[in-house]
Amino acid sequence: MPISTVSEDELKEQRLFIQRVRAVTHVFDHKPLAFTHSYGCQQNVSDSEKIDGMLAEMGFDFTDKPENADLVLYNTCAVRENAENRVFGNVGALKHFKEKNPGMIIAVCGCMVQQEHIAERMKQRFPYVDLIFGTHVLHKFPEMLYSIYEKGRRVVCIPEIDGAIAEGLPVRRSDKFKASVPIMYGCNNFCTYCIVPKVRGRERSRAADEIISEVRELIKTGYKEILLLGQNVNSYGKGTDTDFPALLRELDRLDGEFIISFMTSHPKDCSHELIDVIAGSRHISHHLHLPVQSGSDRILKLMNRHYDVGKYLSLVDYAREKIPDIQLTTDIIVGFPGETYEDFKMTLDLMKRVKYDSAFTFIYSRREGTKAAEMDDPVSDEEKGTWFRELLDVQGEFGERAYEKYVGQTLRVLCEGRGRTDDKLLTGKSRQNIIVDFAGDDSLLGSFADVKITKALPWALVGEIVKEE
Ligand code: 5AD
Ligand code: SF4
Repeated sequence: MPISTVSEDELKEQRLFIQRVRAVTHVFDHKPLAFTHSYGCQQNVSDSEKIDGMLAEMGFDFTDKPENADLVLYNTCAVRENAENRVFGNVGALKHFKEKNPGMIIAVCGCMVQQEHIAERMKQRFPYVDLIFGTHVLHKFPEMLYSIYEKGRRVVCIPEIDGAIAEGLPVRRSDKFKASVPIMYGCNNFCTYCIVPKVRGRERSRAADEIISEVRELIKTGYKEILLLGQNVNSYGKGTDTDFPALLRELDRLDGEFIISFMTSHPKDCSHELIDVIAGSRHISHHLHLPVQSGSDRILKLMNRHYDVGKYLSLVDYAREKIPDIQLTTDIIVGFPGETYEDFKMTLDLMKRVKYDSAFTFIYSRREGTKAAEMDDPVSDEEKGTWFRELLDVQGEFGERAYEKYVGQTLRVLCEGRGRTDDKLLTGKSRQNIIVDFAGDDSLLGSFADVKITKALPWALVGEIVKEE
C-alpha cells in the first residue's frame, strides 16, 4: 500500500498561512503568547509539539498561565471519561479570561472533539470557543487560525477521513534530551472498549527513510533518548516491505550513545523476532510495555484482544529468558462489562505470576460508539472500586520490591535533570527505563554515567557515580 502523505503544495500553502498569521500578530502591541496543554498519551504530546512548532513560526511565545495568553489550546484525549470531564471543566473556566480579554482565541482539538457528539456539546455549551478541530487536520492549523483572525468567525473542522501523513512540520520539542518520533498513526485493532480506532482512524505508517533520517538528525543535535510512538508499533509497515523489527535494526545501526524506546506493543503480534532484536541491540531500551488488560481468557475474548493468557505468559517468559534485566510493565482494565469476580481474580493471579515492575490500572470507562458500550454491565461502580483497590494492593506488593534486585549493580544512566527524590541530586534513566537519582553536577546533563545502585524505592533507584564520562 503506498504511503499517503500531505503534498508539498499543500504544505507550502500552510507555510503561507503561517506568514499571514505572523503579519496579523505583528501589529499587536506585544509579542503574542500561547498557552497549550495536552491531555492523554504521548502521541498527543507529540502532536502538541507540532502545534507549538507552528505557533512559534507564527510568531508566538509561550506562557504557562492561560489568563495571560492570546491563544489557549487544549489538545484532548478520549480514552476515558474523566479526562473528558476535566476538559469540559477547564474550557468552562476560560470564560472569565475571555470576558477580560475578548481578543483571546480559544481552541480545542484532538481525540475528544473528533467524536461528533462531543464536538456538538462543545459547540453548544461554549459559544466562546473559536476553533474546534479533529485529529486528521493538524497540519492545517495555520489556515484555520488565519481564518479566525481574518473573518472573526468560529472554525470547526472535523473530517472523518483518515489524515494523510504530514512530513516536515515544525516541531517545538518539550524535552532537551528526549525526543518523541511517531512512526505510525491510527489503530486497526478494535479492542471493544477502546475509542482510539474511531478517533484516530486506520493505521498509517510513516516511510522508514523519513523516520531514520529524523532520528539521525535528532541524535546529531544531541538528543539521547528517542521514543518511537504508535498505538501498536508491532503493526508498523504492515502491507509494505518493512516491519517493526527491521526498522529497529536499522535504527540500532546508527552511531553514538543513545537509547531507543517505543510504545505501545500489542501482545497479539509482539514477535519473538522483536524480542531477539532488542536482546541483540546496542541502543534499544530493555523495557517492554505489554498491556495485558485482563487475566481472564473469557474477558480477553470479549475485549477482542486476539491472545490468551497462555500465549501472553509464554511471551513474557521468552522476553525474560532472552533479556534477563528487562523491565516489564502493563495496562489493566478493571470492571469490563460482564467481568465477574472470578474473572478479576484471574487478573490478580496473572499479576502474581508475572510480577510486573509497574502497572497502569484503570477502571473501565464506557465509550459511546464502541462495542463494549452495548454490552451488559451489571457490576456497580462501587464494587468495581473495591476490586480496583484490591488490584492496587497486589501490584503494590510486587512493585514495592521490584527494583530491589538492582541494589549493588552498576547501571548506565542518561542524566536528564535535577533529582526527583531530592533536588540536590541529578536524575536520569537507565536502559531499563528506570528513574535513577545520584549526586553529580550539571555538566553531566545530557550525557551517560555509570551509577552504582545503593537504594531501591518503589518507583526509582538511588546510587553513586562510579565513573564519569
Ligand atoms: N476504559 C478504561 N481504560 C481504557 N483504556 C483504553 N480504553 C479504555 C476504557 N474505555 C486503557 C487500556 C489501554 C490504555 C492506554 O488505556 O488499558 O491500554
Ligand atoms: Fe485501543 Fe486496542 Fe488500538 Fe490500543 S490496540 S489503541 S487498546 S484499539
